[in-house]
Amino acid sequence: MKIFIDSADLDEIKQAFDWGVCDGVTTNPSLMKKAVDKRVSAGEKLDLKEYIKRILEIAKGTPVSLEVTELTAAGMIEQGKRIFDMFNPVAGNVNVKIPVNPAFKDGDTTHFDGLRAVRALSEQGIPVNCTLIFTPEQCLLAAKAGAAFISPFAGRVDDLIRTKAGVKFDKTAYFPAEGMMKDDALVEDNGVVSGIDLVEQCVDVLNIYDFEAEIIAASLRNPRQAREAALVGAHIATLPFTVIRDMLKHAKTFEGMDLFTKDIVPDYVKMLKG
Ligand code: G3P
Repeated sequence: MKIFIDSADLDEIKQAFDWGVCDGVTTNPSLMKKAVDKRVSAGEKLDLKEYIKRILEIAKGTPVSLEVTELTAAGMIEQGKRIFDMFNPVAGNVNVKIPVNPAFKDGDTTHFDGLRAVRALSEQGIPVNCTLIFTPEQCLLAAKAGAAFISPFAGRVDDLIRTKAGVKFDKTAYFPAEGMMKDDALVEDNGVVSGIDLVEQCVDVLNIYDFEAEIIAASLRNPRQAREAALVGAHIATLPFTVIRDMLKHAKTFEGMDLFTKDIVPDYVKMLKG
């Protein structure tokens, strides 16, 4: 499974690539706002175009998702092309992120505009990451429209299930992949019992029909969820900086290091000196 960093924060992106385990970057309007706000409130006069170019250079050779902000097919196609033309020449690694359905409510006329934009941009050779996926059938439609990447939002499904179950929760707390029971029934959302279950069903849909699209398990908020995304066959997990960092932690690893270090025979170190 590839690991992307889910961040628009240049310092985090630099650090994650420096760790040598990062295979790409995903951004979205909220992450971009967070990164920009941080810089501006620190007194920086931010040139956003140059800032994004630096992200692309750091991620050189690996995909970077930049999201559209328009809400109609025509607007998303035009803006997607502009994003690609403006930024892909920097390092050849841009994909355009398009919401699977840009409508705000049922009945909005833009219902299929996301998929229309996915198809149009993909047909022009612009790779698309189709985002805000909450059902396997949305994933199927995104794959049929030609998306290169498809992003099911695992953590937000867990939020929904826990809210439906009426439990208080911390958004970063682990939620079991097999779901939770309430009144002797599994709590579910349209046949999906957890975020990881959604990721697994999306992976299955792509595999059964040999779609070339890759699943990016998104909205993952803790290391165990990243592990489970790997176990259900997600091609990619996009992770916040803190989750990548925390994947490496274990008390017994720290303790083992401490014990091994205390046991070092001085002659062994001497022997190995150049
Ligand atoms: O990759 C999608 C992600 O940024 C959303 O995460 O934690 O806001 O649901 P979250």
